[in-house]
Amino acid sequence: MNQGKKFFIETFGCQMNHHDSEKVSGRLVKMGYVPTGNASEADLLLLNTCNIREKANQKVFSRLGAVRKTYGAKPTAKIGLLGCMAQMEGASIFKKAPKVDLVVGSSSYSFLPELVSRLEQGERQVIDVSQDSDRLFETEAGARESPYKAFVTIMEGCNRFCSFCVVPYTRGPERSRPGRHVLSEVESLSSRGFREVTLLGQTVNSWRDPLGEISCFTDLLRRVARIEGIRRIRFTSPHPSDFQPDIVEVIETVPEVCNQIHLPLQSGSTAVLQRMKRDYTREQYLEKVAFLKRSKRDIALSTDIIVGFPGETQQQFEETLSMVETVGYDSMFSFKFSPRPGTEAFAFQDVIPEAEKSRRLQVLQQFQRKIQLERHARLVGKEFEVLVDGSSRRDSRVLAGRTTQNKIVNFSGPPELLGRFVPVKVTDYAPNSLRGELVGC
Ligand code: 5AD
Ligand code: SF4
Repeated sequence: MNQGKKFFIETFGCQMNHHDSEKVSGRLVKMGYVPTGNASEADLLLLNTCNIREKANQKVFSRLGAVRKTYGAKPTAKIGLLGCMAQMEGASIFKKAPKVDLVVGSSSYSFLPELVSRLEQGERQVIDVSQDSDRLFETEAGARESPYKAFVTIMEGCNRFCSFCVVPYTRGPERSRPGRHVLSEVESLSSRGFREVTLLGQTVNSWRDPLGEISCFTDLLRRVARIEGIRRIRFTSPHPSDFQPDIVEVIETVPEVCNQIHLPLQSGSTAVLQRMKRDYTREQYLEKVAFLKRSKRDIALSTDIIVGFPGETQQQFEETLSMVETVGYDSMFSFKFSPRPGTEAFAFQDVIPEAEKSRRLQVLQQFQRKIQLERHARLVGKEFEVLVDGSSRRDSRVLAGRTTQNKIVNFSGPPELLGRFVPVKVTDYAPNSLRGELVGC
């Protein structure tokens, strides 16, 4: 009945959201819908939303304000809002954005076929924002963004309630996926030619097998690494408090596990960390970094930082700068604090003025840019194996690949190399990428 009907999804936010859009695509394809990159021909137009910062919210509402005009959508197209904003705002979306026909929260995608069918049968304003824990992890083979690398969800939700963060409210409590289901999904991905997997979870290293068959997260990594055809395994994001030496050991002993770790710091000041409810001090975080640095593999480290948290003094901000200098991150995501309704920090006093937040962000980003340039300069002349996963839109002979440290290397080569592992030598660098040449050509 849906044969030939088209859908379009715009995704906002994190890797989890991008992977959720893949799950949604898989389900719609199974129903007979066809994906399109052109919003104006879609019968179903979906926005997969993010709620983590106010800016992300505003962006979606401004899109929704004149939704048909923004996307050039057909008058008959149904408009759906998915993801964390849908989960958080629920039915109030229909009041704020009356053109929306469908609201589906981030835990309810397995209900999508029923919900879309109800829309097709003429129902207006269909909504599901329940926490569907039984079928939460089901993934259809469906549309993955890359044919070589895939995300695999191993846990959902978070129990930590950091004072600034909406995730425990939008994604619900922490739920781990049975290890055997993770393994069978990776086996199926490998048989379809995928060579790299990224295991996803809000606090990925607190994964526990609900069936009790796999003893811990690092054991899961070892089991995934044994799957024939899987050459690279990444995972994101571990919480510093759960970060134990066994992760370094697994990186050292299992070649498939990439030497890259994303370890969100948030602030370099213990006082700010306490107000953020982060459970660790500056010194405890540095201890974790110290055993990463002692590793015989050169483990790349990235992080998330928030500036301008309520009450953050200039001195506390400088503690963050000094921490960034001490650790020497390979890359960083940095944000101005955004007060989110429903979180504890929303009501905190001593709000930092917007202009000061912007100034601090700029100082931090410039500081980090210099560090990245220095770190990249040291890589010139070195050889790395990259998984070739993209080519320039303008010239298909300009390829891009990633090293085990997740650094992007651009180099010239034939498009047939896409999806292959090749050696490249670094010849030049920029703050966010490297330039290289194929070795042996
Ligand atoms: N304001 C600014 N940044 C935030 N993050 C989460 N919540 C907020 C907020 N309210 C950042 C954190 C987190 C990343 C995914 O987003 O740094 O690690
Ligand atoms: Fe948010 Fe903290 Fe949970 Fe991370 S650990 S998802 S920052 S509440």
